[in-house]
Amino acid sequence: MKLEKMLQSQGFGSRRECRALVLCGRVGLGGTVADDPEAEILTEGCTFKVDGEAWSFCERVYLMLHKPVGFECSHQPQCHPSVFSLLPAPLRLRGVQAVGRLDEDTSGLLLFSDDGQFVHAYSSGKRQVPKVYEVTTRHPITAALAASLLGGVVLRDDPAPVVARACEVLGERQLRLTVTEGRYHLVRRMIAAAGNRVEALQRSAVGAYSLPEDLPPGQWRMVPPLPPTSLA
Ligand code: URA
Repeated sequence: MKLEKMLQSQGFGSRRECRALVLCGRVGLGGTVADDPEAEILTEGCTFKVDGEAWSFCERVYLMLHKPVGFECSHQPQCHPSVFSLLPAPLRLRGVQAVGRLDEDTSGLLLFSDDGQFVHAYSSGKRQVPKVYEVTTRHPITAALAASLLGGVVLRDDPAPVVARACEVLGERQLRLTVTEGRYHLVRRMIAAAGNRVEALQRSAVGAYSLPEDLPPGQWRMVPPLPPTSLA
């Protein structure tokens, strides 16, 4: 593949912009500054630099973000910055999509990819991919609350009951809840329907992906494309 085309495929702009990047001496390849935009590149295992920043060629990109509170999962946010502003421009330009959504005041694991099949497989309700949430409640957690979450709660304006797939009481106001659905404000509404209230919410896992302890809020990292595990 020609160098300018490879750069375009990795989100560095249009073919013409990528050509200009090379001609301006901003692209490094194999330890030297590249000068021929039409040089043929072996993409497999190819690493390159743009403005000194190192990149590896990847056909499709998969990454996880530790979403901080105060960011919206939308390209057109209403009141807060977008989660996409936390990703570098080439990844945004490749058209990565968020896998599902987290509320503005929820933190935790959010997956992104430009692989439509991956995004669909993880977002599809049919797959029943487990999502694990660390919940801090306003009021102490009772045995009755945990029992009703596991037995199924009926949400306001939504007659179909939602059943928690697992519910682990971790402390007086701490709960680890596993759900397989992705309805709007699901965990907050489940906890409200069971007679308590969410004070803080963090997603710690989606399918086989877990939020690493060493990934601080606002930071992202590449991940391998794991198949969606299911609780169906
Ligand atoms: N459930 C919620 O209520 N909010 C989220 O952000 C995710 C799940």
